Amino acid sequence: MRGPSVTPFYAGDIGVRGAARVRIGLPFIPMHYGQPSAGAPPAAIATAQRVLDRDPLGYTELLELREKIVAYYAATHGVDVHIDRVLLTAGASAALVAAYAALFRPGDRVAMLRPGYPAYRNSLTALRLEPVEIHCGPGQGFHPTPAQLEALQPAPQGFVVASPANPTGAMLDSQQLSALLSTCRARGIRVISDEIYHGISFGRRAVSALEIDSGTIVINSFSKLYRMPGWRLGWMVVPRDWAAQIHSYLINMFLTPSTLAQHAAIAAMDEHEDLERWVRIYERNRSRLIEGLATLGITRIVPPDGAFYLYADIGHLTRDSMQFCLRAVDEIGVGLAPGIDFDPVEGHRFVRFSFAVTPDEIEGALERLAAWLPHYSE
Ligand SMILES: Cc1ncc(COP(=O)(O)O)c(C=O)c1O
Repeated sequence: MRGPSVTPFYAGDIGVRGAARVRIGLPFIPMHYGQPSAGAPPAAIATAQRVLDRDPLGYTELLELREKIVAYYAATHGVDVHIDRVLLTAGASAALVAAYAALFRPGDRVAMLRPGYPAYRNSLTALRLEPVEIHCGPGQGFHPTPAQLEALQPAPQGFVVASPANPTGAMLDSQQLSALLSTCRARGIRVISDEIYHGISFGRRAVSALEIDSGTIVINSFSKLYRMPGWRLGWMVVPRDWAAQIHSYLINMFLTPSTLAQHAAIAAMDEHEDLERWVRIYERNRSRLIEGLATLGITRIVPPDGAFYLYADIGHLTRDSMQFCLRAVDEIGVGLAPGIDFDPVEGHRFVRFSFAVTPDEIEGALERLAAWLPHYSE
């Protein structure tokens, strides 16, 4: 192999061990992956079943879905997005790769947060771009500041940012996002705003970068709010004069995204009550998990504003988060993501809990941890 080597998703190893347990009938509580344990909205599944019976499922980009996405930006963010700017993708992952490939040249530097979503760093590396990590720890609420962007010398060519963020759930308010975007504008830094967790927030709505700067590349997905991670569907909104070129990248790299998923997604976008019901379940899970972990002595947590993660500092228990997570799955059947996935420098003392599971699974995980942690030693 002559390509750059990239690290795996360590949480994947936890998933493999969890699946092995399930195969032999042992319990497993899957809080390691960032995916809702409830499936797609029932109306989306019913639509998919109908479509399977009548549609040959060729390569398609459904205009109706792009129109619904335009309507979503008008209704939720009060922004007018021309339909030509909306491109359908095989999840936010394909959107990210196409954006990196189209916007940057090999060797360009792209800033991202640490801790942050591992694929930002790894897909930049795979494309021969250079990730530049901005450390945003709990002391600053996991929020990047304009001063940190200013301090990068020379200016990077790009900046990828998510709000709410993975793995911390930290959300930028309108002022914070505006300040970051204006620093980027002043320094000629292209922004990719990953809005995949929009719709999942607790107390306030997430602000889209499109409300502030229509020149931002925005990516989004049906994997989180719409609970359709395995359907592999997302979208991007791009400046109009770049749309044809970025679409060419997408078509050449991936052809079209799943046709079945596109039909189902149209139905999912109308399921407001069902979507909201699950967000409220996550909200209750969030409170219960924060409270339950506190009784177990895990208190160094910045309560997340959105997404469905708690990123906990468990430095009093371990200096090896991977070992901790491997033992949690093997010894008590609880799947957690090790901090080293998100932060190669300090992640050895953090773990991420996903609370996009059922309330019973939260109780089960807390009970198992309560019995296990007092005896845990390395
Ligand atoms: C911040 C972030 N961006 C992008 C993705 C990729 O999502 P997908 O390709 O399923 O849309 C994820 C998945 O967990 C994520 O957490």
